This record gives sequence, structure tokens and C-alpha cells, in this order.
Amino acid sequence: MLASPCCRAPLDDLSCRRCGRGFARVAGVPVLRLDGSSAAIDVAEARYAAGREPWDYGHSAAEVQKYDLLELLCARVLGGASLAVDIGCSSGLLAERLTQLTSNVAAIDLSVTTAARVKQRLGERVTVAAASALALPFADGSVDLAVLSDGLISWELGVAERAAAVAETHRALKSSGTAIFMEYLNPRRHHELLDAVATRFEVRDVIYLHDRLWYVAESASRVLKGTALYQALDRSLAFADALKSLGRRLGPRGSKHLCVVVRKVAAPATAWEPHRLR
Ligand SMILES: C[S@@+](CC[C@H](N)C(=O)[O-])C[C@H]1O[C@@H](n2cnc3c(N)ncnc32)[C@H](O)[C@@H]1O
Ligand SMILES: [Zn+2]
Repeated sequence: MLASPCCRAPLDDLSCRRCGRGFARVAGVPVLRLDGSSAAIDVAEARYAAGREPWDYGHSAAEVQKYDLLELLCARVLGGASLAVDIGCSSGLLAERLTQLTSNVAAIDLSVTTAARVKQRLGERVTVAAASALALPFADGSVDLAVLSDGLISWELGVAERAAAVAETHRALKSSGTAIFMEYLNPRRHHELLDAVATRFEVRDVIYLHDRLWYVAESASRVLKGTALYQALDRSLAFADALKSLGRRLGPRGSKHLCVVVRKVAAPATAWEPHRLR
């Protein structure tokens, strides 16, 4: 299912069938990146160099609930052998969940270090590559579902690069394919995600996770990090639910995470119109 990131053509032994460009394999993972020495790659690799997952996504209650929601949304559109792609997969937690929903899952990350760990952990269940969202290693119109979670805005791309990542997602999707953009943002910046995707896609759903108070509590209790109390609160789904109920009362301002579900259509509306959203 992987294609060359240069011409989006099939790969023959990791060489692009169209232009002949060759790509390497590192620790069992194809490195399908066009620029081997960009600063963004160095940053991504440095994050994983210490050997552990940098964000504690697997345990923190708000993050677990984020994955629960993503899984639910993905289940609505996936079935059988649809191709689902986790873009910016980090340690592959979402990709792993996606294997319960379809037999065709790919996970890519800019960092070859984390991609190799995902490959080692998930084996043949997931097709893994080190690649960039700005030059996806998938053929045009080949993907049923793309998920960019804590990605598009978090990557701190320039304006043109952000637009390129959205255009790439659009290109790789089948017509009527779905993309899910999840982002952790100050509510004042939520519009940045909507602005970035609404020009290309039809916005189907905007979901606020109402998790802002959880993150406030988490950061206030960081002085307790390393203690049993901190760990209990950090992992408690009941505590997260209670803070969510309070956060809901604040409306969108009560959310750090915002999830935007979009669909590839022939002619999306040119402007995002909030009052029309569910
Ligand atoms: C904050 S983590 C998000 C992990 C996961 N998707 C989640 O929501 O829990 C961002 C990941 O995106 C990767 N990344 C950064 N820039 C990228 C790019 N241009 N293309 C693909 N992945 C990228 C990083 O290496 C990192 O693993
Ligand atoms: Zn090529």
C-alpha cells in the first residue's frame, strides 16, 4: 500500500517506479522522507532519543479519553479492509486500536526512531513507515480514513507547510473519504484548525472534548509528580469525567482538544460557517 513520496508511484524494492529514486530501510522500517536532514526531522528524532514515549499518551486519563473518542469516530467509517492511516503516529497507540476495526492500517511518523519501535511492537498488523505529512507515501485517492491527531497545528508548521499537509491528506483520500483532525489548543486558537481544513474539505462535525480543566488540574498537580497521588489522579477516568462535566458548562472555552471530522467532496464550501455546524 505504500507509494513513493516523490511521485506517489508504486515502490519496487524501495525505488520509485517513476523517477527511480531509492529509499533506505532502517530497523525494518522504510524511510520514505524526501529531506533527510531538515530541522523538523532532527527535533522529532531528538524527542524519541531518550527511549520513552515523550507525552505519556498511554496512561493520562484525558489522553486515553481522546483515543476512546477517536476510536469511536473511526469505527463509524471503517469496515472490512478499508485503508486507515495514522499520520504522526508516535508510539502507534491509535494505529493499534485501528487494527480492531480494519485489516488495513498504516502508521507513519516523521521520526524513524519511533516508527521502528511501532514496527517492533505491532509487527505485521500495521504497515509502518518514517514519512512526513507534507509528502505522504500513499497513492492518490487510496486512503479511506486519515487521522492527524495532535498533529496539524502541534507540528508548528509554517503557513505554506500547513496548507501542504492538508492538501496531501486531501490528495491521498478516496473521494468521499474521511479525515479526522484532533488538536490540543488554547480555545482562542481553535479557529486555526477549522480555518486550515475548511477550505479543502466539507466539515462534518466539530467536537469539543471539554478537557481544559483536566489539563489545568494536571499542570497544577505537577509538583506531586512521582507520587502515588499524582499517578492516581492522572490516570483516573472518573476524575477526568467529573472535570469534563464542569468543563462542558464553559462551552468551547472548556476544551483544549478540538476534533474536526471532514469529508473529501468535489467542491467544498469556501468559508467555514460555524452556525451551520452541529
Ligand atoms: C504530539 S505527537 C502525537 C501523537 C499521536 N498522534 C497522538 O495524538 O497521541 C506528534 C507526532 O507527530 C510526529 N510528527 C511531527 N511532524 C510530523 C510531520 N511533518 N509528519 C508526520 N509526523 C510528524 C512527531 O514525531 C510525533 O510523533
Ligand atoms: Zn519518484
